[in-house]
Amino acid sequence: MSVEQPIEQQTSVAVAAGTLLSVENLSVEFPTPDGVVHAVDGISYSLEKAGSIGIVGESGSGKTVAALTLIGLTQTQGADVSGRIMFDGRDLLTVSKDELRHIRGNEIAMIFQDPLSSMHPQFRVGAQLVEAMRIHRSIKRSAAHARATELLELVGIPDPRRRVDQYPHEFSGGMRQRAMIAMALANEPKLLIADEPTTALDVTVQAQILALLERLRRELGMATIMITHDLGVVAQIADKIAVMYAGRIVESADARPLFRAPQHPYTWGLLRSIPSLDGPRGVELVPIPGRPPSLIHRPSGCHFHPRCAYALPSHSTIDPSLTDVGADPGHRAACLLDTAQREAAWTQLRAGGTPEQARAAAGIAEIAVPVAASEVVG
Ligand SMILES: Nc1ncnc2c1ncn2[C@@H]1O[C@H](COP(=O)(O)OP(=O)(O)OP(=O)(O)O)[C@@H](O)[C@H]1O
Ligand code: SF4
Ligand SMILES: [Mg+2]
Repeated sequence: MSVEQPIEQQTSVAVAAGTLLSVENLSVEFPTPDGVVHAVDGISYSLEKAGSIGIVGESGSGKTVAALTLIGLTQTQGADVSGRIMFDGRDLLTVSKDELRHIRGNEIAMIFQDPLSSMHPQFRVGAQLVEAMRIHRSIKRSAAHARATELLELVGIPDPRRRVDQYPHEFSGGMRQRAMIAMALANEPKLLIADEPTTALDVTVQAQILALLERLRRELGMATIMITHDLGVVAQIADKIAVMYAGRIVESADARPLFRAPQHPYTWGLLRSIPSLDGPRGVELVPIPGRPPSLIHRPSGCHFHPRCAYALPSHSTIDPSLTDVGADPGHRAACLLDTAQREAAWTQLRAGGTPEQARAAAGIAEIAVPVAASEVVG
């Protein structure tokens, strides 16, 4: 890695008693002819049994790569992986291939980002559920078929006895997504990873699917990792949130403090780009200017500085570490502004102020890069 790792991210974290998953200083790099892609760069987080975490960030921030690595699916693509992934007492980076195969699908299930590619169009939905069960345990076909019907009912598919023998194309988009969830639940996993499970759905169906995932988590005691680019989605179902930018976690906290007192300018940008914070739908949302950086040639210093309206000149050379911030325990952010500056800026933004006003309130006169008025973060 070309950039020095923050000290906090290098430290191994003791795994607490109720912890199901502890990801420690995980890095995933892809060697390519153009250079090394630093897809995931030293991320750490933990998840309690039956807990939920939302992993949020724009496209290309490393969310999917980080999740696929948990179940060994980037290693098969030639990725260099380092760190530790403790899951229920085992390090998933060192277990045997057989054990990992057993854990995948049995103890950890994933709803993939593209649900259509995960269902075979030529097999009935029920048959696919039966197969998912029979790969991992010895269960008679008739019993598995009955269980498949139960699972479809559990995920709210109407008339499951008839639907179980239909093909995926006979299901609506929302029903297909429910069937994918049923597939993931087939072996009663301890951990469900849902990668953008609602992106392709309209707003009403999206809300139903989120409510379903939340109900299942509570009823089945199944921990959940929810991956999304939309902070509004995780607001509804996550206990904890990790915001990713350019392969790193730049802010992490329990959901309440994160929404009440976000500490990182990137999180401010994400919040300003979703409807719920600014009131009624239809108000003008403020997208984050510019685009996420190349993960081969990342910006120096704070990787967010070229897009940040609050960057001081030194922020293009100093790489901030993820440190405790704010008043709430466990709230961490990687930003070089001090507490008073962050508080003053967010108070302005929250009240509807512009980033210029927020900068003035925070006493940030000198900015590192000239940012056009229409292109500021906040
Ligand atoms: N097999 C691979 N080889 C090389 N680079 C890869 C590979 N898989 C992913 N990447 C790169 O890793 C980075 C992170 O990708 P990832 O799919 O995790 O992003 P994401 O946050 O899930 O984005 P999205 O919201 O679009 O799904 C991207 O730059 C991507 O191009
Ligand atoms: S360190 Fe500077 S550039 Fe990075 S997020 Fe904070 S204010 Fe912006
Ligand atoms: Mg993705």
